[in-house]
Amino acid sequence: MNIEPAAFETNVHDDGIFYRLFHEAEAVRWKMADCEWSAIRAADVSPAWRTVVRETLIGELTTFSATQRFFTDFGDDVDFTQWLTVWLYEETKHPSALLKWLDAFGEKFDSRFMLQGRQTIPFMPSKIGTLATNMISEMVAAALYATLGSRPTCEPVLRRICLNIGGDEARHAASFYSYAKKRLARADDLKQQQIAALKILYFWITPELNARVGHPVNLLVHRYKAIPEVQDAVPRDAIESTVDHAYRRACRVFESLLGLELRDPKSCSSFPVTEGSSVRRSAGSTSARSRASKRAASWPSSIATRSSGSRART
Ligand SMILES: [Fe+2]
Ligand SMILES: [Fe+2]
Repeated sequence: MNIEPAAFETNVHDDGIFYRLFHEAEAVRWKMADCEWSAIRAADVSPAWRTVVRETLIGELTTFSATQRFFTDFGDDVDFTQWLTVWLYEETKHPSALLKWLDAFGEKFDSRFMLQGRQTIPFMPSKIGTLATNMISEMVAAALYATLGSRPTCEPVLRRICLNIGGDEARHAASFYSYAKKRLARADDLKQQQIAALKILYFWITPELNARVGHPVNLLVHRYKAIPEVQDAVPRDAIESTVDHAYRRACRVFESLLGLELRDPKSCSSFPVTEGSSVRRSAGSTSARSRASKRAASWPSSIATRSSGSRART
């Protein structure tokens, strides 16, 4: 194979985000072997916590199928696909740690379970949309793990696992932000890209539309709230306040990403995508909800369509 030397592109090392993110990841890397697995007192753990972990495990299983899609859709992005290998490694560790914790209780999972968990839905119709949805999902996941780990009844080893994974998720959110920012900086049609990203935020944070977000983290939130036994470990109001807080934070992050001001988390329904613009409309009004539904109806169905029995990725 004949590989031409660099001629017109900028230097991969100097131009890429990968080396910074790789360094950051190595600096905070936690080891599975550092978890005190033998310290788990199975008799002291309620069935409710095992249910929580089982559901969380399911929400962490789509890494492989998502990675395949990432490499297909972003195959020409050297910088991003280099970082994906770090993300793949860390995301593979998450379900592995949860599964190992459940193993202490005699819970077994076969290959079929793992393969079923890898099923995924189509990605977003745009690359910036894919990056945007992963920013949000990683932020929500980080907040959920922090909440699980802070519950007084959380088993100590599980608490350590949750805090470790939550730290990874928060860093992943920041990494997806960096790549989204880079993509926007090089966009031919910046406004179109901004709108595409904003649509994703809008779907997540708008109650009337959120049920159409088929991302595994969002599905996990719904399962947490729907399964009665989960409430014995993590009350529904704790889940809801965690997600609300994550959404508010996501809005602040999107303000920074897009260079706009969102006075109300739901105010992005009016697409204020010009530099420094602000929106003050109350999105809780009937007319606002009606406009939201009409606007959403005109958007690509692949953002919102969930195929039954399948899951996307964190
Ligand atoms: Fe994860
Ligand atoms: Fe993550």
